[in-house]
Amino acid sequence: MANTLFVGKVYLRFDELSSTNDFAGELLASSVSQTGNIHSKSKPAEGTVIRADTQSAGRGQFGSRWESQTGKNLTFSVILYPVWLEISTQFHLSMAMALALHDAVSSLPSGTLPVRIKWPNDLYIGDRKTAGILIQNSIAGTEIQSVIVGIGMNINQLEFDPVLPNPTSLALSFGQNFDLEQLDDLLFECIERRYLQLKAGHRAAIQSAFEALLFRRGVESIFTETATGQVFAGIILGVTDAGQLRVLTKQGERAFSVKEIHFKSEV
Ligand code: BTN
Repeated sequence: MANTLFVGKVYLRFDELSSTNDFAGELLASSVSQTGNIHSKSKPAEGTVIRADTQSAGRGQFGSRWESQTGKNLTFSVILYPVWLEISTQFHLSMAMALALHDAVSSLPSGTLPVRIKWPNDLYIGDRKTAGILIQNSIAGTEIQSVIVGIGMNINQLEFDPVLPNPTSLALSFGQNFDLEQLDDLLFECIERRYLQLKAGHRAAIQSAFEALLFRRGVESIFTETATGQVFAGIILGVTDAGQLRVLTKQGERAFSVKEIHFKSEV
């Protein structure tokens, strides 16, 4: 049992779902009636976790699919209500969640490879991706109403579809299998700690911890600008408050949104 106040206290486990994020979205939608203001069912408790051993239509960022072998990995979603977070600073929640994954993995009896966060919120071990986060916000007017944080972490899977660019798992990286139940407890604790840190107003601490762990920060890398296809060299400096990547290029410092730039390689 996780040592938490609210994350994972309501824990809905399924053998199979299409997507835990979609299920969380349905739970949230069914708690509001057609008129949008009368609650026909009570809202899911904050921290409700929906986990599935298999997802038939697991979703990744930018419309991609998230593939995960049945029972080998963790695929779950957490429902949060950060109504106290301004929309303009919502990237801080993404940073907090990426840090939570980092906190959990870096506390394991580890291998020699560094654990880093690849902007915007992928968890990398060495130069391979072991976990991803899909965050879906529900916004009303200028306020965040609810957030679904979907997490896919590759744990004991040893083989991946060759079309995936650079996947790994904890087992491949650390040379041992991990207990999924212990790991999800650890993740719930790390998620709650970082969420409460953000709620307590420690945005600057979250940003600086995130920047210190950014994959390939401070070393020259090659990027492609999506719109023009132009390839250029630059050095990652950090992120803006809005979550853009700050890159030092020959033209000086530039800031890129997620869809504007692709990381290509190291120099
Ligand atoms: C990424 O592309 O890096 C984000 C992957 C997020 C996958 C998780 S698995 C649990 C949750 N349900 C989904 O359908 N997606 C997220």
